[in-house]
Amino acid sequence: MAYKTLIVEIEDHVALIRLNRPDALNALNAELMAELADAVAQANANDKVRCIVLTGSEKAFAAGADIREMSQKSFVDVFAGDLFTPETERFLACRKPIIAAVSGYCLGGGCELALMCDFIIAADTAKFGQPEINLGVVAGIGGTQRLTRIIGKSKAMDMHLTGRFMDAEEAERSGLVSRVVPAKKLMEEAMAAAQKIAEKSALTAMAVKECVNRSYETTLREGLLFERRMFHMMFATEDQTEGMQAFVEKREPQFRDK
Ligand code: HXC
Repeated sequence: MAYKTLIVEIEDHVALIRLNRPDALNALNAELMAELADAVAQANANDKVRCIVLTGSEKAFAAGADIREMSQKSFVDVFAGDLFTPETERFLACRKPIIAAVSGYCLGGGCELALMCDFIIAADTAKFGQPEINLGVVAGIGGTQRLTRIIGKSKAMDMHLTGRFMDAEEAERSGLVSRVVPAKKLMEEAMAAAQKIAEKSALTAMAVKECVNRSYETTLREGLLFERRMFHMMFATEDQTEGMQAFVEKREPQFRDK
């Protein structure tokens, strides 16, 4: 499908989704959010896709929700319309791994979108921030919740209350991003990570995603039980037999997602 605000390419089992509103630093408007939810759902349903990479431009992953569009909305518009909730729910329903490849500004809703991905690879030019306070609002799609769980209360309060930006080095130190790479190498590194994931059993990758995400949503005891049962369940797959057999036979595994 052709999108107005995205460029989607599928290459070697990886769907690369690029946010493409260069004139507005990829600000998230209604059209972009609807298209993004659709593109992710399509990738999730496409058997050829085993991993997704979400990126923006060199200057901006996304500079937040579209302020021009939001400035026209009333309380009733955002409350009754539940601004961006259906789109983010569709995004979060994706069971395949999603890597955010972030360069430049990653602010407000843009930072929250990156946080909805499974992990973030940042260019050394990346700048993260939750500057909603400057607009008289708070974050609305997870910034006060996901960011706090990841970087802790003190840093999250600092980011949300001062609206300051965090550079890539601080983001890595805080656990917000998994790795920082030179800007020129960002896409190469992100696509290589996605290719590595694409070589695994898709069943196991799906299970990993469910298990790790569960750790944010439940108690340690319940999470451990969930993980243990998932571990047991994997023994019902052919890919478990193949993975262990291949190790014993000193060869590469041939996973078949069965
Ligand atoms: C709409 C935006 C935008 C945004 C940038 N632009 N951010 N348009 N919404 N969030 C537009 C600018 O208006 C400008 O358009 C063009 O992109 C380039 O931006 P500049 O400001 O000229 O660039 P620069 O001086 O380099 O500054 C970059 C910037 C700044 C620091 C990122 O643009 C900025 O502060 N943006 C807003 C960041 C922000 O507050 N985000 C949080 C939004 S609230 P023109 O037409 O003038 O050239 C949010 C809530 C989420 O995200 C919750 C949803 C439910």
